[in-house]
Amino acid sequence: MSARILDGKALAAGLRAEIAAEVAAWQDKSGRAPGLGVVLAGDNPASRSYVTGKEKACAAAGILSREIHLPAAAGRAGILTAVQALNADETIDAVLVQLPLPDPAIERDIIEAIDPAKDVDGFHPLNIGRLVLGQTTFVPCTPLGVLEMLRRSEVPLAGAAVVVIGRSQIVGRPLSFLLSQKGVDATVTLCHTRTFDLARFTRTADIVVVAAGRPGTLTADMIRPGAVVVDVGVNRVPDPARPAGYRLVGDVDFEAVAAKASAITPVPGGVGPMTVTMLLRNTLDAARRREGGGR
Ligand code: GUN
Repeated sequence: MSARILDGKALAAGLRAEIAAEVAAWQDKSGRAPGLGVVLAGDNPASRSYVTGKEKACAAAGILSREIHLPAAAGRAGILTAVQALNADETIDAVLVQLPLPDPAIERDIIEAIDPAKDVDGFHPLNIGRLVLGQTTFVPCTPLGVLEMLRRSEVPLAGAAVVVIGRSQIVGRPLSFLLSQKGVDATVTLCHTRTFDLARFTRTADIVVVAAGRPGTLTADMIRPGAVVVDVGVNRVPDPARPAGYRLVGDVDFEAVAAKASAITPVPGGVGPMTVTMLLRNTLDAARRREGGGR
């Protein structure tokens, strides 16, 4: 294996220590801790595990978290009531609704009910619009984590050809805007399930970011030697040998791609820890902006 492993876990640990120090300083000044409100509807095991991870990271950074856990049957009205309660809670600076919801058809309505000033996921149309316009906003945590990771790993971005695979609202689409904005200056190609001959694009890319949600999406024959590969995928593959009964794999054929790439993120321990770290940073930013009278 020749690629440098971009260790998100180690990078995130350093960043979280910096954020914890900033949180402590903010608390000294303001007299309270920043607060994150989380709405979890239903019992999707992956969502439960993500939310627990976010709450633990908050506690370690000195951020207060308040979870509203609703039954899957709570529906639109129940989830809206929870979001409104968190919007109105003065001790809560940041609100997120864990996705997917049991009924994905209501996700847009629910996200639009979040106070844009507390929208630390950056999913509200106002914040997405600001991102597209290059204005100060909450940027979705996974794209922000990918950017931070590339920057801290000193991967050149200005002028680089980046191929993003996956056009989701959570990762691919916002990442394409983030990487192409002034100051980052990458040239971005956004590929997706209907892209004809994906390898035609990935083979010429300096950086490939894979956020397709499907194991084996990127294989070694699809990259050029020396490319940088970022794997955003988190897939549970049944594995009876593991206590949990599954193991996590990304979207990239890791061993073979790592033998050809110059740098690659592992799964787990790559982008995931960076995503949670960016949530902490966005929550602290939300608290600062609210105490400062908003934007
Ligand atoms: N589900 C998967 N990723 C995310 C995320 O970043 N935020 C929320 N709210 N839900 C998710």
